[in-house]
Amino acid sequence: MNIVLLGPPGAGKGTQATRLAARLKLTHVATGDMLRYEVANGTELGRLAKTYMDRGDLVPDDVIVGMIKARLGDGGLLLDGFPRTVVQAEALDTALDEAGQNLDRAIYLAVDRDELIERLSGRAVCSKCQRSYNLKSAPPAKDMVCDACGGGVVVREDDKPSAIRNRMAVYEKQTAPVLDYYRNGGRLTEMNGMGTPGEVQDRLLAAAGA
Ligand code: AP5
Repeated sequence: MNIVLLGPPGAGKGTQATRLAARLKLTHVATGDMLRYEVANGTELGRLAKTYMDRGDLVPDDVIVGMIKARLGDGGLLLDGFPRTVVQAEALDTALDEAGQNLDRAIYLAVDRDELIERLSGRAVCSKCQRSYNLKSAPPAKDMVCDACGGGVVVREDDKPSAIRNRMAVYEKQTAPVLDYYRNGGRLTEMNGMGTPGEVQDRLLAAAGA
């Protein structure tokens, strides 16, 4: 089974993909996490990607497709944050086809814009274990120190207000057309992404037939 999880910034793709992959025994592949790893390690790819990521722009298609291509033939994938353009969606279909596989479902998580802003503008993440907090509604017990591992809790550069605004605009312009790509092929499931993470997870499991 291969599934793509789509949605605007803050829709809960990462939160849900982690849980869903474990339940369905799929490999969770998140291009945002892969890029942040490259940035943290100061690689050439990371230095290039950072210039786009910090302002909320997309990293160029050829760079992303080059980074992820080797993973696409494996099968059993839950893709989070990829594809983000129609060019990437076409590259995914080609790579799966070459590996004798196909995409079973693209699931879109729909969340109101006000809720997206609320989630992203409050988010802070542990720099060590990646645990996510909301500084307004669910902060760590000790100021900017992770409850789980004691690591430093930081705000992502692209969760600052100007970058959030740009990410929303970039999503509408470059990623929203991917929904039509899958809708036209009869492969899109649209789902309400509002509610608690547990409620959303239950809907996702039902949609995935689990
Ligand atoms: P990426 O990391 O993919 O960022 P994103 O899509 O903007 O996604 P987010 O991580 O912000 O949100 P999410 O939907 O995963 O929500 P989450 O679960 O974290 O990409 C970052 C950058 O990398 C891009 O801007 C681009 O530059 C580059 N990039 C990545 N992939 C690329 C590609 N394919 N092509 C080109 N460039 C690419 O949840 C958000 C917050 O809400 C968390 O705090 C969470 O705890 C909370 N939350 C989750 N669910 C709920 C809920 N149900 N109720 C309340 N709070 C919730």
